[in-house]
Amino acid sequence: MAILRSVLLAVGWAVSSVSAIDISIKATGGNATSHQYGFLHEDINHSGDGGIYAELIRNRAFQYGERFPVSLAAWSPVNGAKLKLNRLDEPLSEELPVSMNVETGNADGRIGFSNTGYWGIDVKKHKYTGSFWVKGAYEGNFTASLQSALNGDVFGSVDIESTSLGDDWVEHEIELIPDTDAPNSNNTFTLTFDSAGVKDGSLDFNLISLFPPTYRGRKNGLRVDIAEALEELHPTFFRFPGGNMLEGDSIDTWWDWKASLGPLRNRRGFQNTWGYQMTNGLGLMEYLLWAEDMGMELIVGVYGGLSLDGYIVPEDELQPWVDDALNQIEFIRGPANSTWGAKRAELGHPEPFELNYVEIGNEDWLAGGAAGWESYKKYRFPTFLKAINEAYPDITVISSGATTDGYRIPEPGIGDYHPYRKPDEFLSEFNLFDNEPIPHVIGEVSSTHPNGGIGWDGPLAPWPWWIGSVGGAVGLISYERNADRIYGTFYAPILRNLNSYQWAITMIQHAADPALTTRSTDWYIWELFAAHPLKETLPVTGDLNPLFYVAGKSTKDSLVWKGACYNTTDHESVPVSVSFEGVETGTRAQLTLLTGPEDPYAYNDPWSGVNVVETTNNVLEANEEGAFEFEMPELSVAVLDTHFEEESELEESSK
Ligand code: AHR
Repeated sequence: MAILRSVLLAVGWAVSSVSAIDISIKATGGNATSHQYGFLHEDINHSGDGGIYAELIRNRAFQYGERFPVSLAAWSPVNGAKLKLNRLDEPLSEELPVSMNVETGNADGRIGFSNTGYWGIDVKKHKYTGSFWVKGAYEGNFTASLQSALNGDVFGSVDIESTSLGDDWVEHEIELIPDTDAPNSNNTFTLTFDSAGVKDGSLDFNLISLFPPTYRGRKNGLRVDIAEALEELHPTFFRFPGGNMLEGDSIDTWWDWKASLGPLRNRRGFQNTWGYQMTNGLGLMEYLLWAEDMGMELIVGVYGGLSLDGYIVPEDELQPWVDDALNQIEFIRGPANSTWGAKRAELGHPEPFELNYVEIGNEDWLAGGAAGWESYKKYRFPTFLKAINEAYPDITVISSGATTDGYRIPEPGIGDYHPYRKPDEFLSEFNLFDNEPIPHVIGEVSSTHPNGGIGWDGPLAPWPWWIGSVGGAVGLISYERNADRIYGTFYAPILRNLNSYQWAITMIQHAADPALTTRSTDWYIWELFAAHPLKETLPVTGDLNPLFYVAGKSTKDSLVWKGACYNTTDHESVPVSVSFEGVETGTRAQLTLLTGPEDPYAYNDPWSGVNVVETTNNVLEANEEGAFEFEMPELSVAVLDTHFEEESELEESSK
């Protein structure tokens, strides 16, 4: 990241033929706000399995669904072993009924199998932990190793003494520290054993799992580099589990939170809506701990009675779904002596999680067409709203639709708006919420299609791109200036595995190799805006377009102005004068300016590693009129804040 820091007092304007934009900000008269920035997570783009969920072994338990047949994908035999899928009479569990049978056949010496991971495995000199389950009689050692897929170089291995029994499943633990880092991520995990020690010609294996060190050291936890790239965004709001993943393809395949709890051997996995089978290793508890570890407020989506195939739960069959949502809420925030709170306590978290927002369904105006939306307005949303409000009067219930489409949300429900837009469209929607009295969240937002193109009739743009990011910033400003009624803004989709994805637009891209974890151009804008949370908006006057802005008092009691400069006349920079009522001459503020590349379609490319966003920090002094003067180039984004670290502190903190 290019960060330039300098102390540049009283910057003033360069010569410009464009007339200055004078912005005056009143000291009082705005609205209190607790608007928050965050993101939606569902498993799309292998953002969970193969993404933030740190499991390294792909297809670890041979899970499957109707759409995704069970397979040996990612597994290969080693030294002549014969691999096949097996359905034993006594499987590892009811939920994991298929195992991998490894037959010795005519093979001699050490045989076994290897796994390619999620398109590679990152091997570093740190501790890997995991386990595998074996059924069958074997005397001898297993050898677990991490090796190069290119030339078989072994970076680290460990022998594990067999405690296997002939007729029962036995778990064997793995602890492995490689002697050296691998030069790239083209590596495999391999498990071998001595064919001579196998009594009955074959062994069965299941739930073969290996984790690197995880974020905050949690067992079954999150991948450190991806979690840190998210944490550095200062997110304080977290919406999960969707998104389409929550709805499921059919009534039988909605994301049932109950099936995502407890020991991994009791998780069947989940046929997700994004074209692959999920492990469900990233389950409800893992989501809650993720939010807790990053200090994020929750919006939990509960199944609302509509599936993506358009199936609508009839009114007289809705009650079990309402009860299920109430149980889920009790699991999350009920006392440890309540029925579901006790289950949470059993799983190691007796203290209730804080839960103030519950959303009913997802985009109910979409999948079921007119009938789905009608049923949502007529009975589905009102029934959930009433039941949740009666049981938990303090919970804000969110409808999955917005009033901007003419929908009158029954009180005290609030709305959810999902603008996936061309950058120009954020300008045309700038005033959308200005006169809207009902609160909303912007539950999913990103710039998805280039200006002038065919929009949703064509594919998404291949990456977040600079003009898309600045257009998106105009959107963020439009929400934050209504921050008393827009409770939060959520980026979506948040992550993308570069090897397998459905949506190209994402905040962060990743692959097995952490060096490819890439913060997109969107990331820099969201990070900057989220780093300056407001507690109060302040009334602002001044011309809009090409400059869009919001001002307020920050949670640190400082004065803050956030702005985005979009397309200017003749591409000229815009002189800006920002005066806060009551600010005296000589008051200092830091201006953080994000500028982009010459090519507005440029993006942050994981393979070149070049960041096209330049960040500049300057300290300004208010002039004789108490105004801060500076220039904003076309397609730039800025935050001015009277609270900042002085240069010496900056130097100190960067040591
Ligand atoms: O973010 C991708 C998808 O877009 C979400 O699953 C859905 O809610 C929206 O249509």
